[in-house]
Amino acid sequence: MLIPLILSGGSGTRLWPVSRKNLPKQFLTLTGKETLFQQTLQRTIKLTGKATPIVVASEDHRFLAAEQLLELGISGACILLEPAARNTAPAIALGALQAVAQDPDAILLVLPADHLIGDIAGFEAAVERALPAAMAGWLVTFGVKPDRPETGFGYIRRGDSIDAHAYRVAEFVEKPALHLAKEYLTSGQYAWNSGMFLFKASRYLEELAEHAPDIFAAVQEAYAHAKTDLDFIRIDYDAFAKVPDNSIDYAVLEKTAHAAVVPVECTWSDIGSWSALWLAGRRDADGNLREGDTIAIDTKNSLIRSHDRHLLAVVGLDDVVVVSTPDATLVSHRGAAQDVKRVVEELKASG
Ligand code: GDD
Ligand code: MG
Repeated sequence: MLIPLILSGGSGTRLWPVSRKNLPKQFLTLTGKETLFQQTLQRTIKLTGKATPIVVASEDHRFLAAEQLLELGISGACILLEPAARNTAPAIALGALQAVAQDPDAILLVLPADHLIGDIAGFEAAVERALPAAMAGWLVTFGVKPDRPETGFGYIRRGDSIDAHAYRVAEFVEKPALHLAKEYLTSGQYAWNSGMFLFKASRYLEELAEHAPDIFAAVQEAYAHAKTDLDFIRIDYDAFAKVPDNSIDYAVLEKTAHAAVVPVECTWSDIGSWSALWLAGRRDADGNLREGDTIAIDTKNSLIRSHDRHLLAVVGLDDVVVVSTPDATLVSHRGAAQDVKRVVEELKASG
């Protein structure tokens, strides 16, 4: 059975002031009518048919996740609740333990809940092409053609072919330094790791046990003490607190000899910041991405969003991000969009 595993634990601090602790980016309608979480779920329906998804989310967001699933008419999804964020290696392990309990041969299609994919047919085709390698026991990553030396992504060098569509991963480098990212880009030999994966749940657990036995053991313990509560599975607080924090990329993919890559040809973006949203969105002739009640005069290449009925006017500015909500406004240079998280850090520090 092919089961979608939706990772929905991010906090989205770089999309402040719209993304907040209690309503993080994946549960917002940043583009289109549905939230990023819902768009992610919709993307799996054709591929996985009747298989109900497994969602791994923070306990704080349980009602958001449940409501947004219901809005799509998806019932019976398994919602695993984390009492704390321990990054993707443990989150995927929880999903894999749950999947194996449902079906020992389950194949997981792991999808982050905060990605935007333009061409769903291209995404579906890549998953179909990756299935044979996943069934043969490979941990399949989906490689995206890079167009800039982004340091926030993993880089994959393609090795020998495994079958008609999948290749061995010759090298996996998570979040390289800028000089390496530049080298990788010019070499033309590297793809970005899209952060989406396809593998047998049991194979992921075996690889995790081999390369990060401390994470594996601690997650197993936490899952063993999980409690069912209405539609949710609550992971044990004390046991999960002991789980080391690490990502699948550092904990498994950089180390394993069983990673494969299948190229994915579709417009893909990780909506991590306002500048990423600007890049992925439908900009007007002046290069502006506007939402809500806005006026832009002599303004270019900017993101301008008003989230209330407040009229937001921008005059004579280039490359800015202006986002207004009922209780907070952000004005930033588009190039400084990564630093928006520092506002949230400062807010936290000042209580
Ligand atoms: N449930 C849960 N719990 N989800 C989590 C947690 C957690 O503790 N931590 C992260 N996630 C979710 C995030 O919400 C996001 O959807 C996804 O897992 C990936 O985490 P990020 O923190 O966004 O990772 P990244 O973007 O820095 O890096 C990953 O994605 C890149 C592509 O977007 C890596 O896989 C990179 O190699 C990859 O290039
Ligand atoms: Mg991300």
